[in-house]
Amino acid sequence: MSNDNLSGSIRKLWQGETDKFRNHLLRLDKASRRNRFAHAVSDGFIADYASRMTSNGAIVYGFFDGDELRAVAELRKIGDTWGHQAEAAFSVENDFQHKGIATELLGRVIRSARNRGVSHLIMSCLADNGKMQAVARHHDADLRFEAGEVIAEILPHTANPMSVFAEAVEDRFGDLMAVFDLKSKFSKAA
Ligand SMILES: CC(C)(COP(=O)(O)OP(=O)(O)OC[C@H]1O[C@@H](n2cnc3c(N)ncnc32)[C@H](O)[C@@H]1OP(=O)(O)O)[C@@H](O)C(=O)NCCC(=O)NCCS
Repeated sequence: MSNDNLSGSIRKLWQGETDKFRNHLLRLDKASRRNRFAHAVSDGFIADYASRMTSNGAIVYGFFDGDELRAVAELRKIGDTWGHQAEAAFSVENDFQHKGIATELLGRVIRSARNRGVSHLIMSCLADNGKMQAVARHHDADLRFEAGEVIAEILPHTANPMSVFAEAVEDRFGDLMAVFDLKSKFSKAA
């Protein structure tokens, strides 16, 4: 990670890693769940939501502490194809908050959005969610209040060969990390 004070790794989640995603979301406390989904949600809701993790081509970045997933950033299309607009959402487990993880994840999400031609990235959060607003401000978001919510808008730069290359290289490393993770699981189980 580029934040030197943080240990851990960030990579995209694979389609087959919905269990990790679900378990991470289930570990969020009541307040965090409310902030993430804008209302109280049950374990059943989370299980159903997590089973559709990468539906419609969504991109999900995870922050791993060892092999445990502790934070997530989701980038979702609005509509069927990557177009002008996309939306993002974040969740960081309590013990890992205030370490700059969401700020770091948002950087990855902005680059992925940029590389897919998104020019308008939208994040909505409850009006009292000062932490999410602080994260958005770190990336020069424009914040506006709308019916009890704050809508943060970021205008990513146009993609260039460097931004595409950087994402591709990181993806290769991410795939390797995921493979090592799988291998160590199998050898522990043997
Ligand atoms: C919002 C959330 C994603 C932030 O994650 P995080 O990894 O702790 O964020 P960061 O550490 O990158 O940055 C947090 C910022 O909030 C600031 N902050 C902390 N408490 C705050 C508060 N009560 N009010 C305002 N800002 C606050 C921090 O100082 C920090 O800003 P700084 O770096 O300028 O000091 C995390 O708290 C979370 O998962 N909450 C529950 C789900 C949620 O709210 N999701 C967002 C809606 S989709």
